[in-house]
Amino acid sequence: MSQSVCVVYHSGYGHTQKQAEAVAEGVSSLGDIECHLLPVADLEADDAPAWGLLDACDAMIFGSPTYMGSASAPFKAFMEATSQRWMEQRWAMKLAAGFTNSGSQNGDKQNTLMQFITLAAQHGMLWVNLNQMPGNNSTAGSVDDMNRLGASLGAMAQSAVDAGPEVGPTKADLDTARAFGAHVATCAQRWNS
Ligand SMILES: Cc1cc2nc3c(=O)[nH]c(=O)nc-3n(C[C@H](O)[C@H](O)[C@H](O)COP(=O)(O)O)c2cc1C
Repeated sequence: MSQSVCVVYHSGYGHTQKQAEAVAEGVSSLGDIECHLLPVADLEADDAPAWGLLDACDAMIFGSPTYMGSASAPFKAFMEATSQRWMEQRWAMKLAAGFTNSGSQNGDKQNTLMQFITLAAQHGMLWVNLNQMPGNNSTAGSVDDMNRLGASLGAMAQSAVDAGPEVGPTKADLDTARAFGAHVATCAQRWNS
């Protein structure tokens, strides 16, 4: 049976949605694996069918814009809505990973990824890191490098605050997100084989 990966995300203005779509493309690039792209709005009702997809999947990838140095309020509502599953440890031993996008180069994105890691740890899930060397950190580097923001814990992207999602995240950030999705899918296949 093929593995399945859920990308569960929030995006207020569409920038993080582009990052989420790139992550999902990366997952799907492996072929024999299902990928479900789930906005948190699809998980507002306790009996929403999307909860069944999360319960059944092999790996979850959390994604949120960084708002005020943390995951956005709608994503936090999703986090809290998982508490019944936490009680049952229903998601224990699944893989988890995460990504975030913000307006500033730094923007305190690390804190959002740390929130995701804590969520995964509370659920007994196993964290999958970015698995890419930092780019743009030498005289030969450039903003066009993969992982130009130098993350390790998950995928980061940056989008200009005065431009729409057709401008940002940049190609480098979307390529980073795609490679990250493919990495998580590879880990899911290896972990569950
Ligand atoms: C309420 C709010 C809070 C924000 N806080 C931060 C922040 O802490 N750091 C940052 O770099 N950008 C911050 N931003 C900018 C967003 O992270 C940025 O515009 C991002 O691309 C929005 O993603 P979205 O279109 O998926 O909502 C904030 C934006 C909003 C609306």
